[in-house]
Amino acid sequence: MKAEDLALIADEIRRCQLCPLHRGRIKAVPGEGSSNAKLIFIGEAPGAEEDRQGRPFVGAAGKLLNDAMAGAGIRREDVFITNVIKCRPPGNREPKPEEVEACQIYLKRQMDIINPRFVCLLGNTAIKALLGSPRPGMRGKSFEKNGRIYFPTIHPAAAIYNPRLKLVLEIHLSRLKGLLDSQS
Ligand code: URA
Repeated sequence: MKAEDLALIADEIRRCQLCPLHRGRIKAVPGEGSSNAKLIFIGEAPGAEEDRQGRPFVGAAGKLLNDAMAGAGIRREDVFITNVIKCRPPGNREPKPEEVEACQIYLKRQMDIINPRFVCLLGNTAIKALLGSPRPGMRGKSFEKNGRIYFPTIHPAAAIYNPRLKLVLEIHLSRLKGLLDSQS
């Protein structure tokens, strides 16, 4: 069963010591959502609130993501939400390449199990980890690769103090919902 396989990976992540980030965590954040999701959201790494709760996107960036999803008609319970990195980097610094490398195995296994048709990449760390160096103009557009449709967009944290970027995120997620609907 997909849900049980995901739960086993989540247990491994909570015990993981593959990189030094485990030493500073309160809780690892494996990700959450539907094991049958057609759409997965991938962010960068847990922030302070996520580290406290052990759940992805439950702080200020999460509120923006929730609002943009709701505006686009995407229900959180229908998708899977996770991060490239499962433990909080100190002071929310950008994850180091070796941390991304060490954590990659978990995201790969989650993707193999869920097998989503759509992959929404929230910000540069997720874009880099899954598609390589971000290219100008790629955000808000879809790319087909190995049977999946990748949809890079901005990181919700970038929109916290910037209403223009909040609108960009909302427009992108509405476009993504249109693609989802056109394929179901
Ligand atoms: N930022 C992320 O990239 N992920 C989270 O889960 C929260 C904030």
